[in-house]
Amino acid sequence: MKVDGQAKWKMNLDAGHTGGAGSLDRDKDVAEAPGVLTPETYVDGLFAADEDWVGVRERLAANDMPDISVEPGYGRLLTLLVRASGVRDALEIGALGGYSGICLARGMAAGGSLVSLELKPEFAEVARSSMEAAGFGGVVEYRLGDAKLSLAALAEEGRKFDFFFIDADKGGYPDYLEWAIKLARPGAIIAADNTLLRGKTIDQTRNGPSVQAIRAFNEAIARDERLIGAMLPAYDGLALAVVK
Ligand SMILES: C[S@@+](CC[C@H](N)C(=O)[O-])C[C@H]1O[C@@H](n2cnc3c(N)ncnc32)[C@H](O)[C@@H]1O
Repeated sequence: MKVDGQAKWKMNLDAGHTGGAGSLDRDKDVAEAPGVLTPETYVDGLFAADEDWVGVRERLAANDMPDISVEPGYGRLLTLLVRASGVRDALEIGALGGYSGICLARGMAAGGSLVSLELKPEFAEVARSSMEAAGFGGVVEYRLGDAKLSLAALAEEGRKFDFFFIDADKGGYPDYLEWAIKLARPGAIIAADNTLLRGKTIDQTRNGPSVQAIRAFNEAIARDERLIGAMLPAYDGLALAVVK
């Protein structure tokens, strides 16, 4: 079913929802009530609507893909971090429809490059369309298949990166962190989305493999001596670290 993203965006703006946690089709919680703001929806409402995000959501809906792109609020943070740290080579793990790729590419100076790892070739094609529509088609190289194999291949090739965005299967996060540290130039930034797993991370009754993997990942962000880490609890949680 094709979603009229712009209309939905307008509707949510009117209702005080602008794409943050709890808006649109995601969490049917407090933010569903018109006029009720969460910290995220309030902050999102300060910014102009992101046309590229609307376009990506339309492509996701048209291709029956899950609507699980990074929140625009954290997308802005990715752009800011890439720009502030002068990133030349970025790597993302999990492309989906290309929204995080767009946010990373927006922060890059001319000559920057993005390697994007995606399990599903059909998703990578949608991501490629989104990147092209946003004017970043020449920036990105997609590598298909299980990210762990692609990461091993990148290491074999001697590739190094200044920025990592981890946003794929949650059970893989501890391995992805190790690979990021291995492939990092000194001072590289690592960002990872969904570190709260919609509350499962802090729910002591939830102990499935993905939850345990995310807890181990979060503890490494906080305590690994190779990193300077921080954790942002807004939206669904974002981990940040600098590789020393
Ligand atoms: C949350 S979505 C990524 C969203 C994207 N980063 C964005 O914000 O626009 C997770 C993606 O990871 C991909 N994925 C899952 N397991 C993977 C794996 N083992 N290797 C590579 N990609 C994987 C999924 O197919 C999906 O496209």
